[in-house]
Amino acid sequence: MEFMTVKEAMKKGSGRVALRGWVWRERKSNAYAFIVLRDETDIIQCVIEKDKVSSKVWKDTNDLLIESSIELEGTIKEDKRAPTGYEVHVDKLNVIQFADRFPIVKDQSPEFLLDNRHLWLRSRKMVAVMKIRSTIIGAIHKFFRDRGYVEFTAPILQPMQSEGGSTLFEVKYFDENDITYLSQTWQLYAEAAVFALGKIYDVAPTFRAEKSKTSRHLAEFWMCEMEAPWIRLEELTEIAKEEIKFVIDEVLKNNKKELQILQRDVRILEKYVKEKYPTITYDEAMKILKTKFGMDVKWGKDLRTVEEEKITEHFGVPVVVTHYPSEAMAFYKPPEPKNPKVARCFDMLAPEGYVEIAGGSERSLDIEYMKKRLREMKEDPKKYEWYFDLRRYGSVPHAGYGVGLERVVAWICGLENIKDAIPFPRTMLRKSP
Ligand code: 4AD
Ligand code: MG
Repeated sequence: MEFMTVKEAMKKGSGRVALRGWVWRERKSNAYAFIVLRDETDIIQCVIEKDKVSSKVWKDTNDLLIESSIELEGTIKEDKRAPTGYEVHVDKLNVIQFADRFPIVKDQSPEFLLDNRHLWLRSRKMVAVMKIRSTIIGAIHKFFRDRGYVEFTAPILQPMQSEGGSTLFEVKYFDENDITYLSQTWQLYAEAAVFALGKIYDVAPTFRAEKSKTSRHLAEFWMCEMEAPWIRLEELTEIAKEEIKFVIDEVLKNNKKELQILQRDVRILEKYVKEKYPTITYDEAMKILKTKFGMDVKWGKDLRTVEEEKITEHFGVPVVVTHYPSEAMAFYKPPEPKNPKVARCFDMLAPEGYVEIAGGSERSLDIEYMKKRLREMKEDPKKYEWYFDLRRYGSVPHAGYGVGLERVVAWICGLENIKDAIPFPRTMLRKSP
C-alpha cells in the first residue's frame, strides 16, 4: 500500500491507510499499545491490540521510545477522544529505528532546548514557526515579483561597513593581514544595481556583531530589502506598509493551524491587515511621548525600545516614524532640505512590544556630505570610491528599505524571543549547534 501523510489519512477518514513517521507519545497497557504518530503534517493516535498482531510486533512496542521511526498500516476511523479526532487500528508495524531515550521531556529550560535545537526542531511549536517563516519568505518574493521587481543578489563578503563599524564581523581573507567583513546589508550593492535593473529586492543572510543580549537581536539574521530608482520617502513608506499587510494576509490564508498551535490571536492579525498604519515624524513621536506618557526624551537620539513601545501602544497598529535626527543615522541618509537636522528616513514599529521591524531611507546624492559623515565616524572615505561613482554617472533619486525577517516572524507568531524565529540562532552567547 502507498504511504500517505497523517493529514491525507484524516481527510480520507475511513478505510485502510499506510503511514510513516515518528513516535510522538507512547503508552501501554496489558492489551493495548497507544502510539501517537507524528509526521510533517500532523499527529494521530494509533492503537495496537495485543491479540491482533504477531508476538514480534507486540514485543517491539516495548522498545518503541519517543522519536523512534516507524511505518504502519491499519484502519482509520473517527474517534472524538483521540488527540486529533481520528484513530488508526494498526495491524502491520515496521520499526525503522528504535530511538534512544529522547533527552527532551516536558518543561525544560529555554537554554536546554537551545542546546538541543537539532532535536527541538521537531516540536510542534518549532514546526509551526518554521512553516510560517516559509510562508513569509514566499510572500515577500511574491509581493515584489508581482510588482515587477527583479531579485538581485549582493556579495556577503564586503570590504567596508555600511551600518556602523561597531557591529562588523571580520573575516580573515587569504593573506594573513588582509580582512574583509560579513554583510551588514545588501544596500550599497543594490544602489549600484538600480541603475541597471530598476526596481530590485532580495532576501538574504545578514550579520551584525550585536553586543546586546536582547530578545530582539541576532548576530546572524535574514533581511528582506528593496531598492528602487526615482522614488521618494512618501512612496517608500507606503510600499513597506503594503508589504507587511500582504505578508500577514498570506499567513492568515495559509497558516490557520500553525497560528492555533502557537495560540496566536488571529483577530489581532486580521486587524493589522485591515487597518491603516499611521505615518508620523520623529518630532510628532516626541510630542506623543511627552503629552500622553509624560516621557521627556532628549532630542537627537534614536528612539529607545521603551519609547518605541509607547508609540505603538498609542496607535495599536504598526507605525511609520520618519525624519529621525541626522546625527544618529547612517552616513547615506540625506538631510531634509527644509530642515537639515533631520534625515529623509523611516523606521516601521510593530505593536505588542516588537517595535522596529523595518528601516529605510532615501539615499544621499551628495558625495561631500557622505564623505564628511564617514570621517566623523572615523571611516576612510577612500574605501567608498566605487560607491561615490554611482553619484558621478547618471545619478538619480533612489530609496529603499530592509525588513528584519525574524522580527516579523517573531511578531506574527507572537514569540517571546527572536531566537525561536530562526532554526539555529546565533547570538553573542550562542553559535551552536
Ligand atoms: O535598520 P537597519 O539597520 O537598516 C539597514 O540595514 C538598511 N541598510 C536597510 C535598507 O535601507 N536597505 O536594518 C533593517 C532591519 C531592522 O529594522 C530590523 O528589523 C532588522 O533589519 N535588524 C535585525 N534583526 C535581528 N537582529 C539584528 N541584530 C538586527 N539588526 C537589524
Ligand atoms: Mg534601524
